[in-house]
Amino acid sequence: MTNQPAKTETPAGQRVLSEAIVAEIKAYFPRYPTRQAVTLPALHVVNAHLRHVPLQAVVEIAELLELAPAQIQDTLSFYGFFKQDAPHGETRAWVCRSVSCALRGGEEILEYMCQKAGIEPGQTTDDGRLTLEFGECLGACEFAPCMLAGDTLHKNLTEESAGKFLQSPTG
Ligand code: FES
Repeated sequence: MTNQPAKTETPAGQRVLSEAIVAEIKAYFPRYPTRQAVTLPALHVVNAHLRHVPLQAVVEIAELLELAPAQIQDTLSFYGFFKQDAPHGETRAWVCRSVSCALRGGEEILEYMCQKAGIEPGQTTDDGRLTLEFGECLGACEFAPCMLAGDTLHKNLTEESAGKFLQSPTG
């Protein structure tokens, strides 16, 4: 049994980038010197809408930017940020495991949260609400251990505060 959402497979020929997504990507064109330079913004736009960047999206981004799909895929795979096989949860949370947080129990907090949520690090809950992952230094070492959930930084995490977050994971 897996806690992961089913892998998304796009039927052949079915496009995944909506007109709105395409328009959002094209809006970056005047702001960058080349279309290739729009690769990373385009990946972020797609990820913001689809919560992952499936292979078909890579093909469509490549068409828009007049590049080879491999060039887009190279950039995507360089960053651990982008998921490709399945969408991440509605909220994506990174528990810091860099030195300050690790010394103050960050790894144990993530283990506790994963156990409570019934998933492993990197996985998404069955209801699709939360993906829990290891993160690297969040730049808030004085508040170790901490976690970034969406745009919200959770400082001085304890099992109690982590448990409360799990009851209503938003970010
Ligand atoms: S080590 Fe965790 S925020 Fe810096």
